[in-house]
Amino acid sequence: MQSDLSPKLHPSKLHVGIIMDGNGRWATRRRLSRLRGHEAGVEAIRRVVEAAPQQEVGTLTLYAFSSDNWRRPKAEVAALMALLRFYLTNEVESLIRNGVRLTVIGRRDRLPDGLSTAIGRAEAATASGDVLHLRIAVDYSARDAILNAAVQAAGSDNLTRETFARLVTGERELPDVDLVIRTSGEKRLSDFLLWESAYAELHFTERMWPDFEAEDLAEALTSFRGRQRRFGGLRPLPAETALGSSDSGTPVHAHSLD
Ligand code: FPP
Repeated sequence: MQSDLSPKLHPSKLHVGIIMDGNGRWATRRRLSRLRGHEAGVEAIRRVVEAAPQQEVGTLTLYAFSSDNWRRPKAEVAALMALLRFYLTNEVESLIRNGVRLTVIGRRDRLPDGLSTAIGRAEAATASGDVLHLRIAVDYSARDAILNAAVQAAGSDNLTRETFARLVTGERELPDVDLVIRTSGEKRLSDFLLWESAYAELHFTERMWPDFEAEDLAEALTSFRGRQRRFGGLRPLPAETALGSSDSGTPVHAHSLD
C-alpha cells in the first residue's frame, strides 16, 4: 500500500464538524419536552449555516443522528426523523438562496419511508450551491463508513490514502476536517468523522446546542486559529498549507508524533 506524503493544498476554506449535543438537557432544564430541545436545535442549525461562510467555513458537517441513536425511545427517534424531513423539505429554498449545497451522509436503507426521497430531492435541488457545503450525518457511523470502504477496497492494489478517502467519504475532493466542535461539555468523538478528523483540532464548549450562536462559532474558530498545527512535524505549517491538509508531514519532521 502506498501512502501520500506530498502536501495537499486546499483552498483557504475550513471544514468544521459539529457534534450538536445538549438538546435534551436544554429542554429538561426548562421543563420542556426533549422534542422542544431538538426543535430549538434546528434554530441553532439555521444560525450556524448562515454564519459559517462569513467565518471562512467552506464545509460544515453536522452530526444529526448517529447509528447508535436508534437505541433511543421510539417516539424520540420518530420525532427526530420527522424534524429532519421537515428541515429538508422546508429549508431548501433558503439553502438555494444562500448558495448552500446540502448532502446527507450515512445509511439510507433504515430511514423511514419518504425521508430518503426527501434527502435525494434536497441534494438535487441544492447541487449547484458553491458558497457552503453543508453535510448532515444521519444514521451515521464513522466506523461503518471506514469498514464499508475497506470492503470496497479489498483486493485493489494501487490503494492510496486519497483513493481510500474517496471510498470513506463518498466525495471526490472532501477536505479533511480542520476543527471538531462538541457542545454541552461532553468530550468525546462518538464515532464521528474518525478518518477525516485525523489531524483535526478539537473544541469543547459548555454551551448547549440550542443556545449555540454565531459568536460561539467565532470563538471556536479564534481558538482554532491560535493553535499551532504541525501535522507531525516540528514547526507549524503555513496556514494555507495546513488548511485541510491530510498529508502526514514532511520527511524532515518524520520523528515527531503530534
Ligand atoms: C444531541 O442532543 C442531539 C441529537 C442526538 C440530535 C441532533 C438533532 C438536531 C439538532 C435537530 C434535527 C436535525 C436536523 C438536521 C433537522 P441530546 O438529545 O443527546 O441531548 P442530551 O445529551 O442533553 O440528552
